[in-house]
Amino acid sequence: MIKLAKLGILTGGGDAPGLNSAIKWCVKHALDTGVSDDGVTGIKNGWKGLLDIDVTSFDKEKVRTYDRDGGTNLGSSRTDPFNVEGKDLSDKLITNIRRLKIDYVIAMGGEGTLRATYELYKKGIKVVGIPKTIDKDVGGTDYTLGFASAVEGNKKLINTLRNPAGSHGLIYIVEVMGRNAGHLALHSGVGGGASIILIPEYPFSLEQVSERLKERRRNGARYDIVVVAEGAKTKEGREFYKSQTTVKSGYKSFGGVGAYLSEEIQKLTNYEARCNVPGHTQRGAEPNFYDVLMGRNFGIHAVNLVKEGKFGYMVSLKEGKISHVPLEEITTGLNLVNVKEEYDTVKLNAKAVPLGFP
Ligand code: F6P
Repeated sequence: MIKLAKLGILTGGGDAPGLNSAIKWCVKHALDTGVSDDGVTGIKNGWKGLLDIDVTSFDKEKVRTYDRDGGTNLGSSRTDPFNVEGKDLSDKLITNIRRLKIDYVIAMGGEGTLRATYELYKKGIKVVGIPKTIDKDVGGTDYTLGFASAVEGNKKLINTLRNPAGSHGLIYIVEVMGRNAGHLALHSGVGGGASIILIPEYPFSLEQVSERLKERRRNGARYDIVVVAEGAKTKEGREFYKSQTTVKSGYKSFGGVGAYLSEEIQKLTNYEARCNVPGHTQRGAEPNFYDVLMGRNFGIHAVNLVKEGKFGYMVSLKEGKISHVPLEEITTGLNLVNVKEEYDTVKLNAKAVPLGFP
């Protein structure tokens, strides 16, 4: 039996470590502060759960251990209620919100989910957003849930690949996620001590990459690790997709830049090059301390906003403080790597400057 509650929460888009911590703290804090005294409605599979009326009831006991889990225990989808196979189903979704007696919705997601959250706010739904994505590319915040755990996993992977790379004098290319932003590549590369990092914000030249690698060997390097973001493109504008077909979620899946680089670099340098693509292991990582903490911080702050009647905001981290910005901010652009400030276009690596959070 589903117990109807005033607060509904959902997770949309790709899963990310830290989401379950945010779910737990939204539920706990909403019950402890009386924001939703009769329980919390968990909306399954993102906005899809509101179109299908697929929900569950949360109480404190049910979410007690959630912060230990990766992924999202609510399930997720990339369903955009304003564009379901070309149809705008937002009115149906709003009718279902009323039918479920939900007064306010906390939506956790990346750019896509949060854009829909903003559009629903404009149609009169009382919403608060929580940013998550291992890409850390949502505008208006210095942190998105999942980023730190994904970086940590990539660091471990790079250090594992360092053994065969070092033992056999290989050039190891590691293709990490990051469709538009290079934060994940940059931080993973710095964390794992990569010699070259390629990001979508700075199109690469194959010749420059190969020359840099040859120069490193001349200076005594025995092997190399190159970290490349899946969305990195060549100076000539070539992008790399798994296939040319648009997937259900409305975008083409990136993939292949690592394989391309290893083949071409091997030809240009004469050193053996291999490629590793961690894929979903980056999103599926166990939440590290930082994501458990940030899930808690973001969850509590989101409920406080609901309690204060402040809707149409996204919880954010700004200059080290948990805060909030109008959801509208996410429509003003993605948070990308600041090439001028953070990226060394000669060394093809992070500049010797403090990098952004964490
Ligand atoms: O959620 C963002 C992301 O991590 C992107 O970096 C990546 O392109 C995408 O997810 C992959 O998602 P999917 O496996 O659903 O194609």
